[in-house]
Amino acid sequence: MKGQPLIPFLLIAVAGIAIMLILSFVGLGDPAGEEAEENGNGEEEAVDVGAELYEENCLSCHGENMEGDSAPEIAGQSADEVTSAIEEGPGSMPEDLVTGEDAEAVADYVEEGGE
Ligand code: HEC
Repeated sequence: MKGQPLIPFLLIAVAGIAIMLILSFVGLGDPAGEEAEENGNGEEEAVDVGAELYEENCLSCHGENMEGDSAPEIAGQSADEVTSAIEEGPGSMPEDLVTGEDAEAVADYVEEGGE
């Protein structure tokens, strides 16, 4: 009966591994939840920034509600179309009025029609 005293230790080891597995699943769940929340906030912020940037850089030509003034109506155009217009500056529109993240924020704002 030399082996018997080992059995309690084996049980503890197995229980320990089980607890570690459970903790690691819980641990994986939490950061994912936080990330999702951050993304939500990030998007809301982007839209606010987009509104400000629109007012500063686009409103004078495209109008308060993107209905078009001296320039075409742009409300609801896809973000891709808006970004390429910003980069290319079609016709008499100046190119690169906003760049990088700013351009994306404005594009999202325009795509959502200013909401
Ligand atoms: C100086 C005036 C002016 C400003 C400022 C301006 N635009 Fe324009 N935009 C124009 C004109 C004019 C056109 C039409 C060009 C053409 O096709 O002849 C145009 C075209 C566009 C188009 C394509 C519309 C279509 O249906 O072809 C988009 C999208 C656009 N602008 C977005 C923006 C955004 C976003 C901003 C701010 C970052 C901006 N514009 C700032 C004058 C302006």
